[in-house]
Amino acid sequence: MTSVGIDAIEIWTGKLRLDLPNTFAPVKGDDPEKYTKGLGLHNSSMPDVYEDIVTMGANAAKRLMERKGLSPQDIGRIDVATESAFDNSKPVSTYIAGCLEQVFEGDFHHANKGERKFACVAGTQSIDDAYNWIKAGRNRGRAALVIATDTALYARGDPGEATQGAGAVAMLISEDPSVVELSTEQGYGSADETDFLKPNQQFPSVDGKRSMKVYLARMREALEDYESVAGRTHPDDITYIPFHTPFPGMVRKAALLGYRHMTRDTEIEEELAAELGRQPREEDFDSWDAYEEAIRGYMDGLKDTDRYRDWYARTIEPTLTLSGQLGNWYTGSVHLARTSALKTAAETGKGLTGEKLLVGSYGSGAQAEIHAETVQEGWKEEIEALTIDEQMARRYDLSFDEYEQVHDVHNHDKEIDVEEFTQPVGEFVFAGWGRMNERK
Ligand code: HMG
Repeated sequence: MTSVGIDAIEIWTGKLRLDLPNTFAPVKGDDPEKYTKGLGLHNSSMPDVYEDIVTMGANAAKRLMERKGLSPQDIGRIDVATESAFDNSKPVSTYIAGCLEQVFEGDFHHANKGERKFACVAGTQSIDDAYNWIKAGRNRGRAALVIATDTALYARGDPGEATQGAGAVAMLISEDPSVVELSTEQGYGSADETDFLKPNQQFPSVDGKRSMKVYLARMREALEDYESVAGRTHPDDITYIPFHTPFPGMVRKAALLGYRHMTRDTEIEEELAAELGRQPREEDFDSWDAYEEAIRGYMDGLKDTDRYRDWYARTIEPTLTLSGQLGNWYTGSVHLARTSALKTAAETGKGLTGEKLLVGSYGSGAQAEIHAETVQEGWKEEIEALTIDEQMARRYDLSFDEYEQVHDVHNHDKEIDVEEFTQPVGEFVFAGWGRMNERK
């Protein structure tokens, strides 16, 4: 069977930056370390007033197509994953295809276009759809373009405000991929939940604390389901675990849970329990709260052991570098985490070909998906072609007043005339409804 997976990745960040410890925290009267240490966030990326999910997605896809020398005829499918959509009928992929047709020869008239929605997990679901489409032999040799694009904004004053972000990740899914091959090994944890939702509203209604419990409960279920397919997973057999990262502090909790799960009933756990003088209780639990309560003592000790800290530094920390500077990108977040890990490996000269990744995706509402990927030979070249460092360095640094004005503009209820903060160069910009254009 042909291998199918991610052949190329491009990232487009919102062009503005909100500095959390120096700009946000003082106005909120908070200790800056609540953000840098507690949540693990230093900056949020914000969209300029002429940027939205269409422009960011189109700009990422344009760069990807140019770099790979693709024309519209090479693409048989365009799926956009977003939870910031503004149209209940026309999928965002049609807007993005319209933009791309302005700059590439040919058109996407024979490409299947859609929009995928399940909060942040929709980006991974779109990749799964593309994988299945290619594996089923329906792609006629063509590749799929998956674009995860979001303006992840919260109402002002909401605890989630510190975790905002904006950006797009475009990924080419094809046969014989250069970056990672997807496996058939997958597990799900899915349940109807109401801790984070946006019923016909611009900003989400969030029960932040409960959302963290729901994330962990679904992730544990997904891991169990994954192991029912793939068998027991040894933590040292996985090189990186990119998790959905609403903020790095959330991943600290997910990683600890994952490690405990992977090491349960093993020699590692026996050794750790002896070292800590505490045993995790071995029973079946009917609720997340009961499980959490039962393992709390052991987990508190576990996270401070050298063995765990070393594993975390190797396997998890490299996945969080971009997130700490960019914030939550919702559908793009887990794909930024994967990219962050590969980028760290490229920068430190680590060989990765053939290594295994376990990808932990999550979307509120709620569903977690765990799947395995194998790094392919061309990964380094692809990752080194990214310009995310330059993009981050070019971001305009917002004052708090400017941040509030930009936030108002992106709350579609309000029309406010705001100066542009950055200069668009050779990119798609939002020029009013019904008019997407490109400025050179
Ligand atoms: P909060 O209540 O303002 O923060 O908001 P907190 O008081 O819980 O503090 C956060 C952490 O900072 C805590 O660490 C504090 O101890 C620590 P923890 O105990 O959890 O390890 N802290 C400090 N550390 C050092 N120095 C200090 C200090 N002060 C405090 N001085 C909350 C936190 C997550 C509730 C909020 O950000 C929120 O509502 N976020 C939005 C929801 C969210 O991101 N949920 C995550 C899971 S759901 C998910 O991931 C899905 C999502 O992406 C959406 C989708 O799928 O569509 C959100």
